[in-house]
Amino acid sequence: MPATSITVRVPATSANLGAGFDCLGLALDLFASITVTFSSAEQPPTDDVGEKMVLTAVRQAYVRMGREMPGVSARYNVAIPLGRGLGASAVARVAGVLAANEYEGRPMDEEGLLTLSSELEGHGDNACPALFGGMQVCVAEGERYLRAPCRYPKDIAMAILIPDHSMPTKEARKALPDTYSKADAIHNTGRAALFVAAMGAGRVDLLDAATDDRIHQHQRSSIFPPMFEVFEAAKKAGAHAAWLSGAGSSIAAICPEDHARAAAAAMLETLSGHGMTGRSLVTHIASEGATVSKIELVDE
Ligand code: HSE
Repeated sequence: MPATSITVRVPATSANLGAGFDCLGLALDLFASITVTFSSAEQPPTDDVGEKMVLTAVRQAYVRMGREMPGVSARYNVAIPLGRGLGASAVARVAGVLAANEYEGRPMDEEGLLTLSSELEGHGDNACPALFGGMQVCVAEGERYLRAPCRYPKDIAMAILIPDHSMPTKEARKALPDTYSKADAIHNTGRAALFVAAMGAGRVDLLDAATDDRIHQHQRSSIFPPMFEVFEAAKKAGAHAAWLSGAGSSIAAICPEDHARAAAAAMLETLSGHGMTGRSLVTHIASEGATVSKIELVDE
């Protein structure tokens, strides 16, 4: 029997968006293609970190679907680097879950796909926009994850700084305290809500105030000291606002289209001024999320 290869196209994402810790995220127009092959023969194990993440997601999808897993291999050849806050792990997990669901005839609905992908991540702020595109609010509610898409202005660009150093999410979460003051909780709740409302209303003048966070960015700047200076450089070059993308190390700046290149260059220059290396690029919010882009029958 021939094997079946399923290729899934998944966007990179930026999570938190300043004050929306663990609940806000948006898809970036930077897509990865991951191929998962299902066959009757057992497949040899892999040492590749990305492929292992895809295969774990496939395995968990089979547990969730209550079906027996066939032989599975994955090809994860993704330009989105791991540990940089651009949702590379969500890309792998969403790809595994989506491919398994497709191969089995789609027993999981949208909420099932979101819940499993978010559970594998530990939060839904990358998995949700990776699955559905655009800008999303996503929260855990008991054993489910719930989401709502947000409106956003169409005439904006995203400047992204990708430092060469990584900030693994596990490490970056260790920098956070176990408890926060009432004042900090109130500060962030209001600003996360303000960000969603401002994006919906096209009130880009509010985005800088809306991204002023007290939950994670200051704490994480101890592992990435130039962070706030990079934010300031982007804003001075014309960005509306900037934030630490996910758990870092990338920094995202939301910009008017005609200032995005300058913001990207200013962020890179500031990073270099601190003796650190990286690259910067300009992209946009992707309205499309993960899709199955190809299904092929291949010889075993
Ligand atoms: N919300 C998560 C964090 C995103 O900041 O730790 C990274 O996976």
